[in-house]
Amino acid sequence: MERIVAPSMLSADFGHLDRDTRMIDRSAAQWVHIDVMDGVFVPNISFGFPVMKPIRRATEKLLDVHLMIVEPEKYVARFVEAGADLVTFHYEATTDPAACAEAIRRAGAKVGISIKPATPVEALRGLLPAVDLVLVMSVEPGFGGQSFIPGSLDKVRELRRLCDELGVRPVVEIDGGISAANAAEVFAAGVDAVVAGSAVFKAADPEAEILRILGA
Ligand code: DX5
Ligand code: ZN
Repeated sequence: MERIVAPSMLSADFGHLDRDTRMIDRSAAQWVHIDVMDGVFVPNISFGFPVMKPIRRATEKLLDVHLMIVEPEKYVARFVEAGADLVTFHYEATTDPAACAEAIRRAGAKVGISIKPATPVEALRGLLPAVDLVLVMSVEPGFGGQSFIPGSLDKVRELRRLCDELGVRPVVEIDGGISAANAAEVFAAGVDAVVAGSAVFKAADPEAEILRILGA
């Protein structure tokens, strides 16, 4: 599968969202990653629907929305209306992950499910046939700029084994602490899509940094 890079808008300049989104739109990155935090599921608050609008207007690239909110099923349809192409919710954030996946599908978007660093891959066994993507968190969700947790790659390999056993092939995405320095081993472990926030937006030349991650 081709390598995908999804720059995280959490690290963009919110005073220049249009400019920063257009930069990603021109770049080699295929997706735009959007981190939604509610201050309950994670100890931080980012943004919601109104902020998605200027992003949606500025790019036709796939909007990869990562919901770090409790009871995601209440809001998934509104995120799809706001322009999400792919909606990823947390396994830990809902009492009925299968119903949440179904609500996303019904709203017309691709379905992603994410697990925090402490959640075992095995928890996803019954859900894997119902999702298009699995997002493995390689930091505790809530903040950009944290260090990659090394054990995350073992989880990716285990996830790949479980998918093979079940005969399913969701996209495997990883999020947190990714840069050109570790992208090669991340892709080698079986990751298809990497999220990169600070590595891209803090780089002197973000477009060149995206190319370095893709070519790592
Ligand atoms: C963290 C978010 C990430 C974050 C990644 O909760 O889900 O998408 O923006 O930032 P970096 O790439 O700086 O670790
Ligand atoms: Zn994210």
